[in-house]
Amino acid sequence: MTAVHPTRLLLVTGAAGKTGLAVIRKLRDVPNLRIRALARNADQCPLLEEAGVHETVIADLNDPTALATALQGTDSVYHVCPNVHPQEVPIGRRIIALARQAGVRRFVLHSVLQPGIREMPHHWAKMSVEALLAESGLEFTILQPAPYMQNILGQRVSLCEQGVYSVPYHLATRVSMVDLEDVAEAVVRVSADFDGIGPEHSAAHLGATYELCGPGLLDQTEIATELGRALRREVRAEVEGREVWAKAAYRAGMSRYQVETLLAMFRYYERSGMTGSAQPLENLLGRPPATFAQFAERTFGVQPG
Ligand SMILES: NC(=O)c1ccc[n+]([C@@H]2O[C@H](COP(=O)([O-])OP(=O)(O)OC[C@H]3O[C@@H](n4cnc5c(N)ncnc54)[C@H](OP(=O)(O)O)[C@@H]3O)[C@@H](O)[C@H]2O)c1
Repeated sequence: MTAVHPTRLLLVTGAAGKTGLAVIRKLRDVPNLRIRALARNADQCPLLEEAGVHETVIADLNDPTALATALQGTDSVYHVCPNVHPQEVPIGRRIIALARQAGVRRFVLHSVLQPGIREMPHHWAKMSVEALLAESGLEFTILQPAPYMQNILGQRVSLCEQGVYSVPYHLATRVSMVDLEDVAEAVVRVSADFDGIGPEHSAAHLGATYELCGPGLLDQTEIATELGRALRREVRAEVEGREVWAKAAYRAGMSRYQVETLLAMFRYYERSGMTGSAQPLENLLGRPPATFAQFAERTFGVQPG
């Protein structure tokens, strides 16, 4: 006889962002899981519905009352803090405390690879939130993704039209990357197992912290070569001066905190690289994670027919 499992309600924060949408598009296929999205803008409801959410709560993560409402009746939380947010620690503290009050059973935190680097404020903030979660008494799992391969999509036009791939650090810099599709699949593995609604019904991921990295460690010139291979054209890597990058970032509307934090990250990358192991992700997925070459071919490759 097939066991019947109750439907669980999972709250996903940062739901309408790059990470949230990718995760929701995979979670939609998990049986007996109802997805509640937290978004701050009602205009995002159609997009979220299309991605697979069952209900959306409009709330600002800085508003405790709205956040408490969003948490009502939830069994578990997948917390994705908005990218490079100056209030990341207060937001983390608030949602963890309110989750406890609301009787949430499981909390999965979307952290970052190497959160313990003080000179990158957005990494260090995640370290603090990890510690708050560990202290909270909630059942938890922490995921630490490398930079997404998909970040390169912001350069699609210059890649396709000029054959230029630019980065604001030295071309010899090596940074582990991960395919966001693999990250989303890993979220399904830990969330499904975590809630006893997945095929294994195990608590195997309780208290676990997993680095999520793709295999290989390419430098920036090697990345350009792989992009060129997929695009069937020459792509050259170029260094973009950090002052030039910062001016463009301000023009695009980034705040001073965001610009200075990302400049600190670029300086760190250039000095130390950013590396991690693909093994934890391979263990979670039960297959090797995507290589950069596979991502590039899938994303930019000429499709037959
Ligand atoms: N990008 C990477 O390579 C990478 C790698 C590892 C970890 N991460 C981490 O992943 C997380 C998510 O990054 P992302 O790039 O997916 O973020 P994102 O695309 O910027 O999405 C963040 C979402 O949060 C919403 N938001 C912003 N402020 C809010 C507030 N006060 N209350 C409620 N919602 C708010 C945004 O709303 P709007 O749509 O209205 O702006 C957006 O939909 C970050 O913590 C980042 O550090 C990223």
